[in-house]
Amino acid sequence: MKFDVNGAPVDADPRAGQSLRTLLRENGHTEVKKGCDAGDCGACSVLLDGDPVHSCIIPAARVAGRAITTAAGLAPAGELHPVQEALVGSFGFQCGFCTPGMSVTASTLCESDLDDLDRRMKGNLCRCTGYRPIREAITASVLGPVRTTGTSAAVEPNTSGVGRSVSPEAARRVVQGLEPYTFDEPITGALTLRVLSSPHAHARITSIDTSAAEAVAGVVAVFTHLDVPDKRYSTGRHEHREDDPDDTRMLDNVVRHIGQRVVAVVAETASAAEEACRLVQVDYEVLPAVFDPEAARLPGAPLLHPERTPDERVDEAHRNVILSVHENSGGDVAAAFAASAVTVEGSWQTQRVSHAQLETHGAMGYIDDDGRLVIRSSTQVPFLTRDELCHIFDLDKDCVRVYAPRVGGGFGGKQEIFTEDLVTLAVLRTGRPVSYEFSRTDQFQRAALRHPMRVKVTLGATSDGILTAMKVDVLSDTGAYGNHSRGVLFHSLAESTTLYRVPAKQLDAEVVYTNNVPSGAFRGYGLGQVILGVESAMDMLAQRLDIDPFALRRLNAVREGDPLHPDDDKYEEDLIWGSYGLDQCLDLAEDALRRGNGVDAPAGWQVGEGMAVAMIATLAPRGHISHTTATLRPDGTYMLGVGTAEFGNGTTTVHRQIAASVLEASGDRVSLWSSDTDAVTHDTGAFASAGITVAGKALYAACLTLKERMLQIAATLTDTSVDSASLRADGILTPVRLVAFTEVVAAAPAEHLTADGLTADGSEFGDLRSIAFNVHAVRVAVQPETGIVRVLQSIQSADAGVVLNPAQCRGQVEGGAAQGIGSALYEEVMIDEGQVTNPVFRTYRVPQFADVPDTEVYFATTNDELGPFGAKSMSESPYNPVAPAIGNAIARAIGARPFEQPFSRDRVWRLARGKSALTS
Ligand code: FES
Repeated sequence: MKFDVNGAPVDADPRAGQSLRTLLRENGHTEVKKGCDAGDCGACSVLLDGDPVHSCIIPAARVAGRAITTAAGLAPAGELHPVQEALVGSFGFQCGFCTPGMSVTASTLCESDLDDLDRRMKGNLCRCTGYRPIREAITASVLGPVRTTGTSAAVEPNTSGVGRSVSPEAARRVVQGLEPYTFDEPITGALTLRVLSSPHAHARITSIDTSAAEAVAGVVAVFTHLDVPDKRYSTGRHEHREDDPDDTRMLDNVVRHIGQRVVAVVAETASAAEEACRLVQVDYEVLPAVFDPEAARLPGAPLLHPERTPDERVDEAHRNVILSVHENSGGDVAAAFAASAVTVEGSWQTQRVSHAQLETHGAMGYIDDDGRLVIRSSTQVPFLTRDELCHIFDLDKDCVRVYAPRVGGGFGGKQEIFTEDLVTLAVLRTGRPVSYEFSRTDQFQRAALRHPMRVKVTLGATSDGILTAMKVDVLSDTGAYGNHSRGVLFHSLAESTTLYRVPAKQLDAEVVYTNNVPSGAFRGYGLGQVILGVESAMDMLAQRLDIDPFALRRLNAVREGDPLHPDDDKYEEDLIWGSYGLDQCLDLAEDALRRGNGVDAPAGWQVGEGMAVAMIATLAPRGHISHTTATLRPDGTYMLGVGTAEFGNGTTTVHRQIAASVLEASGDRVSLWSSDTDAVTHDTGAFASAGITVAGKALYAACLTLKERMLQIAATLTDTSVDSASLRADGILTPVRLVAFTEVVAAAPAEHLTADGLTADGSEFGDLRSIAFNVHAVRVAVQPETGIVRVLQSIQSADAGVVLNPAQCRGQVEGGAAQGIGSALYEEVMIDEGQVTNPVFRTYRVPQFADVPDTEVYFATTNDELGPFGAKSMSESPYNPVAPAIGNAIARAIGARPFEQPFSRDRVWRLARGKSALTS
């Protein structure tokens, strides 16, 4: 069969039933991405005879004689299509996984399409950006440049140092799809791994017959629980592996949720592996299952991990409880409530949310020429992944390399080992390269989701609104395994409740096993769930006392200098006030809400305003470690070594900016080697927004040391063209002089000079943490006849310290707000008796172009004592206050408060008609 791709002839014979997407990728067009394989996300968009299509649902056999254009072929070689240029200029991507497909669809639009943009672009999902920069890029490419709106951080010219909106170095490759992700550099001869899943929520495997599977042509190996190391571990990864319970076997003889791995098959082709999976005969003894977390901890409930012990971080296995937290501060809480002039209370139920990164989980593995195991993975934590693989397989760290190319979205979900363990097993047993990529349905049934929590909050206050007592009771459902369950529970109760000065406080929380799909790390790490309860209760208090909600926060919120730890020796005193920006954030959000944005509600809709506050520590507790290197190379350029991963958070760009500022260099002279266990000694990984506050700080130290050494060495040189005074003659380390400098140093080797040049190390332990704030405010309209909620104005003010890259930081806030709007209004992984019933994007609704209003972003002007150049982290926190702000606005619009998230149409409709949201 012959067809054209980007003007070049292709001759290929598609397999029966093959999609155009896989055919294109097999022919080298890895710019065509896989997000869903169901025609829902648009990551695979191409032009077919000039019309945009989702190539994953186009039968390959139908393209004979036709012309296909991919993102890499929208413009002549070396050039970009105008919309791609505009996407680069408007910071129109973060992880960039959606961007090639987005470019393809957008390339077909003209001026008359702009009024219909929501519909024209609805088939292309973006999980990261909130769409505002994409919309501006499309408009700019059609009409010419547009003025950016709604931010106090204007886009700056493309200069190199901190404080400027520097474009990602990879931008031009990303928009064409040429920046490689995990599966974009295929390994010749790689086997494909597929997994047979459990159909039962709880069962014991009594026998497995793999003989028919092994007989399938092309099958190389079939693995069961009898073939894997007899070790328990956790898929969740932290610097200290003891933070998570050892409750997971790679393949187990007991299955605890529908979708759990039972058998792994590796074969020459995917179709052979899938056929073999279908032929495996498994006999199960079905066990009683429990799906309700309240029921799971009652006497007589089925036990999921009865043999686990507190030494394995499962505190009360006999009642399915992994961890209980009970904390009292300020003494007699009951007496404090009794003495309060008013009390308010409520119980909020939060739901399972999928990270919905457009790139699914996956890994490839092989043995390199030196005999080392190499794992290429879509991970946020390459070092922690390597370390746990070594633990599981008894390997030496020197024998394993794990690296991540650009990662197509994380949001905490890739702080786990979901594929790398099986890939390692298969590579070690077969000696062949192996590839294992999750499907979209795997993401819902086998990867982790946000912990659903029931959050009860009671507040007491004086008649003036001064808080007197707080009681918070949380029940968290970790599902079948406890990955991240302990950390998420601790964190959920932390900054959510220390935000307010309360003299008497009682916190009680438990996290329990159920036979549901596992929960895990998700943006906010539990804060979003508890903040929903606390901030909704604060709004109830404001309504009860008829106090403005902004004023109520000003009255009760912590102020700089307040104690940040309970008066208890068991707490590390690691939180400090590096800066304080809540006062500014409250003012900025309130001012913007009062100004309005001119968007009116449709006639007959009911309008309400709401706001909420979130506080967050600028990184995770118990140490987050980064080692970095900075090298002056003989050609006068710099190479940075950094361990943390880039998944759209923009750290690679900010790291180059930090180096450019410290080393007085232009960005084009700074290169970066990152996300690779070979690059540096150690890095805890890209989570808890540590890319700037820890890795950035370590890099700052390395660059500073390098510069000082250069100047020290130069001071000892007699060559006046490169001596210390000359190097700094113009207040800048110029390339010409640096080349001369390295030549002189190379001729007379000095300390720290390697074959690569002059290298300095930097490291940061991250043992002190500062505080950041976000305030979200909204005006919503509710149509009472339908329950539809429309966000008319969305505002977020953020306390990010010194903003190192305003456009990128704005994007993080907008993206967090967009994800928060989805979680607030409609995203919910539905489970029935342990079965996920909406495991595809067609039924699990990620916000589309039309669903997300622009969020006005305002930055407080603070300068943090701890962060590099005064910066604070600002990746996960923007998500946290959005749902309570929207819930508070709905409550004020319709006079009834939503207690069950998401605040979906049906629930809001029932509330608006005076019915319970919890019944049908
Ligand atoms: Fe769109 Fe990440 S940039 S999905």
